[in-house]
Formats: sequence, structure tokens, C-alpha cells
Amino acid sequence: MARITIHPTATIGTVQPALHGHFSEHLGRCVYDGLWTAADTAEQGYRDDVLELFADIEPPVLRWPGGCFADDYHWEDGIGPRATRPRRRNLFWAQGRAQRWEESNTFGTDEFLTLCERLEIEPYLAVNVGSGTPRQAADWVEYCCADGDTELADRRRANGRELPYDVPFWGIGNENWGCGGQMTPEQYARAFRRYATYVGAMDRHVASNLELIACGFQRNEWNRRFLEEVRSGAWGTEFPLDHLTFHHYYGGTVTVTDADLDSYDQFLVDARAIEELIDATAAAIDAVATTRDIGVIVDEWGAWHPEATADNGLEQPGSVLDALSAAAVLDVCNHHADVLTMTNIAQTVNVLHCLVETDGEDAWPRPTYYVYDLYRKHRENLAVRTDVDAPTRQVADDVLPLVAGSASVDGDHIFLTLTNLDCRSAHDVAIELPGAHVTAVDVQLLFADHDPAADTTPETATAFGPAPLSVTDDSLACTLPPATVAGVDITHA
Ligand code: AHR
Repeated sequence: MARITIHPTATIGTVQPALHGHFSEHLGRCVYDGLWTAADTAEQGYRDDVLELFADIEPPVLRWPGGCFADDYHWEDGIGPRATRPRRRNLFWAQGRAQRWEESNTFGTDEFLTLCERLEIEPYLAVNVGSGTPRQAADWVEYCCADGDTELADRRRANGRELPYDVPFWGIGNENWGCGGQMTPEQYARAFRRYATYVGAMDRHVASNLELIACGFQRNEWNRRFLEEVRSGAWGTEFPLDHLTFHHYYGGTVTVTDADLDSYDQFLVDARAIEELIDATAAAIDAVATTRDIGVIVDEWGAWHPEATADNGLEQPGSVLDALSAAAVLDVCNHHADVLTMTNIAQTVNVLHCLVETDGEDAWPRPTYYVYDLYRKHRENLAVRTDVDAPTRQVADDVLPLVAGSASVDGDHIFLTLTNLDCRSAHDVAIELPGAHVTAVDVQLLFADHDPAADTTPETATAFGPAPLSVTDDSLACTLPPATVAGVDITHA
């Protein structure tokens, strides 16, 4: 029996909607054949079927254009009449079904920002630090967000967009310790300060409230060294950044369709290791500044299985196991709502831990899509302390709790999400709410009828959606079948 005790007054922080964000890169079939039609020619357009699926789960934020691609992307290649945009190398990734290491620039800034407006998504642009300049980055802000009498604002107007776009999030490079220029933390800190001087100064020229995002690293002393060096002595704010990021991929040894139950356990342990990375990043910030001023972002995360290779556009099956790991990660994020400002799962469509898959005319949700749909009820609630007393399993040197979860409150409503991380057995769960009188409860369950390795197809996808689960009213007890996710809506007096 697992016992979940919710403490509705022990608040952690607001669950920022951006904790449920997404990431799209010019990689494989994410943009071309994912968000945009496969034929990357001038006449083609958005994949409405994909956008409609995403509209239904209300993505709060979308990061673009990379990833590694961002640090060799020159935004001016992707504006203006599509027929005259240059074809360029794609230095890092093959694209489309034809797997060409080329970029047509058919989908550029206006296409991306229009997509965001259509779905009411907050855009997050990653500027080119590795092979670009601070001037190009500041110019990009001006093109997107300025309303003045300047050549760049006029160029946007000439390209069909009169009003400035609102672009709040500006990432200064991507993985600059690696594909973004192989910098040391000190080198990146100096580059960051230069970019922050010019991109940050655009704040006074545009209506958008610009938030600057720095790339951190998930290992060693990178973050502490970066923060110590980026601290400015003479001019401007002491710390010229609003958020510090890291990336978290897991599952590199787990081939889902050919794995055993022990490797499922290891996979889930590795997914939950995001908790240590959040703690370590927050601690690095707190050592030199404060997490109240600099938020923690996980701007790429998700399952990355051996099936996904650069040669296949990082495509891999999308299983119930992946969805279970996503739910476990989102629960961990709720427990850290005091420091986390955004997370973006990689990558929206067809690539890695995507939520939607396409094949020709078909577009359909993967199991993880249903987790995002279920977890929407946490958004803007106050995350609260939730103690889980559950059976555990020893997994090599780690311990996997077999039931996990998180809760958030909105007035007299509590939303609790639970995962049965045990792919072998069902678990009974008792939910306790000390001092509260429960007046109504509704439980929706995902994946009860599916094996952890199961993937969706266009025909079967809807069967992976939620089904009601009965609860013993007086004791708030339920049974979670193996490898399932539950959303529990509680109303109390
Ligand atoms: O998401 C795929 C790649 O993973 C991104 O381009 C890079 O940032 C990360 O290493």
C-alpha cells in the first residue's frame, strides 16, 4: 500500500504554465513534415492537423530554432519572399524524409511567430552565439519586436507584419559548452555579457519585456564558474540573466521495443534524476545570487533511445514507458515550483520524445500527449508539499519509488497526479488530506490497458486517452494498475 499525504497549506510555489513547454528544432521531420508541410516549397504551409492537436493541449511556450541548429542559424536567411530565401547547409542535422543536411529557410521567423500567435504560445528564440554576432542578435530583436521608424521594423512590415510581435524569451546560444562553440564557462560568460549588453539594451526599444536565458551545464562546476564570471563589475545589472538552463536526456541504453523490466526500472530512475540536476543548478545560483532573481529552466529534456540517430532524424518509437517517465518528471518539477521557471520537452513532432507523430497525411498523438493533457490542471495552481510513503525497488545503486506524485491547489480544489512506476505490479494507494473534508473526487487513469512498450498508431491513439477510475469515497483509496498515470480531482471543504 502506498500512502500519499497532501498538505494543502504547505505551498511550494506557483506551477508556471511554462513548466509544460515545448522545443522544436530544424532537425529530422520536426519542422518540415511536422509543423510545416513536407514539401518545403514556397506555396506550402502549416500542418493544420498537427497544430490542431497542439491547440487542444494549449502549449504555453515554444523554443525555436534549436538546439545545435541555433548556433549556425542566421535569421535573415529565413525572412522575406520564400522563393528568394537561400538554401543553406544544416551543419548538425539531416531533415525531412529525404534526410538532406540542408535548410530551405521556407520556415523562418515570421512563420514561427505566426504559429505561436495562432496557438497563443509564448515564443522563445535561441540566438546564434557560436557562429553569429551580438549585432545579429540585437537586430533579430529589433526585426521582431520594434515599432519604430527603423529599417528593420520596416522590413518586418514589408514582409506582411505591421505590428511588432511579442517575444519575451531570448536564449543566448545553446549548449555553448558543446555544439554552440565548445566554450569554457569563463569564455561563455564573457560572450554572454557581450550579447546581454546589446540584446538586453533592446529592452528600452521594444514593448516586449525581454528575459535573457543563459545555457548552463548538467555536470561538474560549469554553472558555478559561469555565474562567478558573468557577474558584472562596472555597468548594468550585476547578473545580466533572468534564467539559467540545463538539458536532461535519459534512456540512451534502453531500446524500448527490446528491453526487459529491469531496464525499464533503470530508465525511470534516470528520468527522475532530473531532481538532482534541478537542485544542483539552484544551489549554484544560490551560491552567488538567488533563485528569486535567476530562475532554473530545463529547456530540453526527454527520453532519447538508441533508435534515435542523427541519420534517422532522431526518430524513435514513443511508448507508454516514455509517457510514464514524462509524468514522473512533471511531478518532480511541481516539487520544485519555487525555482523552476520553464521546461521544454524535446521535440514537439516526430523527433525524440515528441508528443505528436506524422506519416504522410496522418497526424496522431503519442502516449506522452495524454500526460500533457492530463497535467494541464496543475497550471497556475500552487504546488503543495505531498509526502509519498511507497514501496521501493533497489535499482543498481539507486532506489525507485514505485508510486510517486505531486499535488497543487486552487482554492478548495486539489489536483493530484500519481504514477505507478512499477511496470510489473498494481499498487493500492491511499490518499490522505489531514484536516480536510472531501466533498467530491474524480479520478482519470491513463494506460491501464496498455503494455509499457505500446506505441500509438493513427487508428489506436484515442484508446490511450483517459478513462475513469473508481475510488473508495470514504478512504480516498484506489488501485493503480502497472505503468499507469492518474489525475485525481479533489474538492474539499
Ligand atoms: O534535441 C537534440 C539536440 O540535443 C539539440 O540540438 C541539442 O541542444 C541537444 O544536444
